Amino acid sequence: MNHHSWDAYSKSYLNIQKNPASFQLSLMNMLRFEEAEDILDAGCAGGQLHQYILQQRKKNCKLTGCDYSIEMVKLATARMLKFLNNPLQGGISEISPQDVENVDLNSPLLEQNNYKIFQGDVQSLPQLNNNQFDIYISNMVLHLVENKDQAIQEAFRILKPGGKIGIVIPVVSGNLMMHTLTKCFIESGLIKEMPFKPTDFENREGMINFISKHGFKDIVCWNQTIPFDLFDIDDNYIFPQFREILDKAPKEQVDQFYALFKQEVQNRLALNLPFTVESMSLIAKKPS
Ligand SMILES: C[S@@+](CC[C@H](N)C(=O)[O-])C[C@H]1O[C@@H](n2cnc3c(N)ncnc32)[C@H](O)[C@@H]1O
Repeated sequence: MNHHSWDAYSKSYLNIQKNPASFQLSLMNMLRFEEAEDILDAGCAGGQLHQYILQQRKKNCKLTGCDYSIEMVKLATARMLKFLNNPLQGGISEISPQDVENVDLNSPLLEQNNYKIFQGDVQSLPQLNNNQFDIYISNMVLHLVENKDQAIQEAFRILKPGGKIGIVIPVVSGNLMMHTLTKCFIESGLIKEMPFKPTDFENREGMINFISKHGFKDIVCWNQTIPFDLFDIDDNYIFPQFREILDKAPKEQVDQFYALFKQEVQNRLALNLPFTVESMSLIAKKPS
């Protein structure tokens, strides 16, 4: 996967965002966003946290977002401009493709509100200064990054002494949503085996060792399980990795996949249970 897959995915980002938001909210509470003066959201996608952060932040606190997908950067900017122009104008999901396409990435309104967003790869952020941020948040990004050591070294460099990092990654083993999707993909002949293998980060020990190796202290790391609603089974649930497979497959197999998945949803509803997704979350400090 590369930034082009995420460019394409930005078109359905507003759908997926309807679902799990609570990993990030727990993380932000644990980090105490309201005390920070300078916050970075690394791999911010369409900026689903940004309006919330703006409302919670301390006066004059700066918020910066970055993502390596330019389409995501445009979407986040369009949403922020809509919000800044009139927070009561309606839901941010009402952004039109034209709003995104024609967005002014250099609108002075952004800077006036201490908001900055740019296209950048979390593995190398020369645009950002040493010791700049109080908080570095990265929600559902690190597992996608090729050189994770480099990404965490960058985070360490740009955080102030005493600054905090907050990371969330999905965990394969407890992810019923992912397992069910994978099962339906395999049964309809679209793939042969589970495409996502548990990584070293899947357990707390691996994650804690990885972060402490880079100099972080006061590490708190926890698993979190949250529900996914079952109200519809449209493309909300088709993550970009799966989307790429569906786009290339014969219609017959795609129809079979949807039929199988629909049945799985019915089975779950019969138990009065939602699907669930699970994360590994972590916060830590750069020593003062
Ligand atoms: C699952 S989304 C994360 C969403 C966002 N953090 C949120 O809380 O809604 C993953 C995002 O990470 C971005 N991404 C993946 N690898 C990246 C990298 N090396 N540098 C910057 N962004 C990256 C993708 O473009 C995508 O927008």
